Amino acid sequence: MILIIDFGSQFNQLIARRVREFNVYCQVDAPTVATLDYIKELKPEGIILSGGPCSIYDENSPQVDSAIFDLGIPVLGICYGMQFMVSTLGGEVKRSDKREYGFAELSIKEPCRIFEGIESPTQCWMSHGDSITQLPEGFVPTGTTDNTPFAAAADPSRKFYGLQFHPEVEHSLKGREMLSNFLFDVCKCERTWTMENVVKSSVEEIKATVGDKKVILGLSGGVDSTVAAVLIHKAIGRNLTCIFVDNGLMRLNEREKLEESLTNKLDLNIKFVDASERFLTALDGVSDPEQKRKLIGNIFIDVFEDEASKVDGAEFLGQGTLYPDVIESQSVFGGASDVIKSHHNVGGLPEDMKLKLVEPLKYLFKDEVRALGEEMGIPDDLVWRQPFPGPGLGIRVLGEITKRRLDILREADAIIVEEIKKAGFYKKVWQSFAVLLPIKSVGVMGDQRTYDYTVAMRAVTSKDAMTADWARLPHDLLARISNRVINEVNGVNRMVYDITSKPPGTIEWE
Ligand code: XMP
Repeated sequence: MILIIDFGSQFNQLIARRVREFNVYCQVDAPTVATLDYIKELKPEGIILSGGPCSIYDENSPQVDSAIFDLGIPVLGICYGMQFMVSTLGGEVKRSDKREYGFAELSIKEPCRIFEGIESPTQCWMSHGDSITQLPEGFVPTGTTDNTPFAAAADPSRKFYGLQFHPEVEHSLKGREMLSNFLFDVCKCERTWTMENVVKSSVEEIKATVGDKKVILGLSGGVDSTVAAVLIHKAIGRNLTCIFVDNGLMRLNEREKLEESLTNKLDLNIKFVDASERFLTALDGVSDPEQKRKLIGNIFIDVFEDEASKVDGAEFLGQGTLYPDVIESQSVFGGASDVIKSHHNVGGLPEDMKLKLVEPLKYLFKDEVRALGEEMGIPDDLVWRQPFPGPGLGIRVLGEITKRRLDILREADAIIVEEIKKAGFYKKVWQSFAVLLPIKSVGVMGDQRTYDYTVAMRAVTSKDAMTADWARLPHDLLARISNRVINEVNGVNRMVYDITSKPPGTIEWE
C-alpha cells in the first residue's frame, strides 16, 4: 500500500484516485495522523508527500517527523512535498512571493526511474511559489524547465524522488506514467486493489466486527446506502435490517423499485415504513425552505429511532460514509477543523443512538462504490443513480407542499428522467429533475383555456456539486420532454428550462 501524506493540496484526492486506478491501495492521511509510529505500523511500500498551499517558511506549515526518511521507504515528494523533503534533508528552498502557475516544458536531464519510458521534453503543470536552489547531498537534478532548474530531482540510492510539478493532474501529460513508475518500478507494489478483493476483505472485516450481532441501516435508495446495505448483507445476511422511511416525498415508484431490486433479487431484509401521513401533516402550511428541511430531518430521526428500537438486540448501525468525508474530517494543520463543510446533511442520525458504527465504504471513493455495486450485482438503475437530496421532493415543490402537487411533480419528474435516460444523458449530467413552481399561468389546450401549473426542468453538469453549469441539452430532447409533460401530466400547461449556473444559482430551487 501507498501512504499519501496530505499537506493540504486541493489535488490530494486526485493523487489517491490515480494510485487506485493502478489497482494499488492507498490511504490519505493528514500529517497530524501520520506519526512515525503510525507509519511504522502501517508499513507502506511507498510514501507520497502531497503538495499544499503553504510555504515551508510559514509559521504553521504542515510537517511530518523527519525520521520518516530513515525508514528505508521510497518517497515521492510533489511540489510542497518535494520542498519539505529537500529542506529537511539539508538542501535549500528560496522564498518567493511570485507563483509559477500553469504549463511548463520539462526537459529530462538524467536517466531516472520515474521518467522511464517518457520522452523528453514533456508537458507538465506547475503551481508553486518557493523554489529549490540547492539539493541535499546524494540528490541529482533530473529535470528542468525554463524557470525551474530543479523541477525534478532524485536520490536513487535512497529511493527519494521529487517533482516540483503535479503529475496527478491531466495537464501533466505523462503524469500517470510517472506515478506508475514510482508504484511499480520503485516501490514494487502489486495490483491487488480490485473490487473482487474489496468485496472479499470487506465481508471478512464486517463478519469479524459484527459477529452474530444485529445491524440496522437507514436505506434511502441512494447509491451509498444501497451498496453499504448489500455489502453488509453479504457478510451477515438477515441479521441486517434495513429501514426505509417513506416520507411521502419520494420519487415515483421508489418503494417498488427497491423491493424488486433488493428484496426480490438480492434477498435483503427491508422494513418499509410508511410515515408519509406524519411528514405531510407536519409540513402542512409550511413554505419556508429551511423550516421544511428542519422538519423533515427531525421527523426522520424520530421515525428511524422508533423503528430501530423495534429491532431486538441491534448493536450496530450501518452507514454509507465515503472516503472523501473521512479525509476531509482530518485536520491538516492541527486545528480543530480546517474544513468548511458546505454540504447539507438532512437525514443524518444523532450521535447518541448508542450503536456502534459499521462503515464498510469509508475507504472508498464514489466511483469505487459504484464499481463495487456492479461487482455485487446491484442493477445499473440503482448503482448509477443521480444524487437526490435528503428532504426529497419537499424542496422541489416550491412553497406549500400538498399531496396533489407532489403527485404532479412525481409524474413530471419520471418523464424527464425517462427521456434523459433514453437520450443517453443520464450519466453525462450530474442531476436532471423537475421542480414544481407555485404559480399558475394561462394556456390553451384544444379549444379550452387552461389555468395550470408550470414545471421547471433543471439539468446540470458538475463534478462535485460545489459549482455547476446548466446542461446544454439538445433542443429536440427538450421539446420532447416539454410535449410529454404538458400532454401527460394533468395540471401542468407550461414548462421552462433553467439556464442558471451555480454560482450564482444553487442546483436545487429551495
Ligand atoms: P445546492 O442546491 O446547494 O445543492 O446547489 C448541491 C447538492 O446538494 C443536494 N442538496 C441536498 N442534499 N440535503 C441533502 O442531502 C439537503 O437539504 C440538500 N439540499 C441540496 C443537491 O441535490 C445537490 O446535489
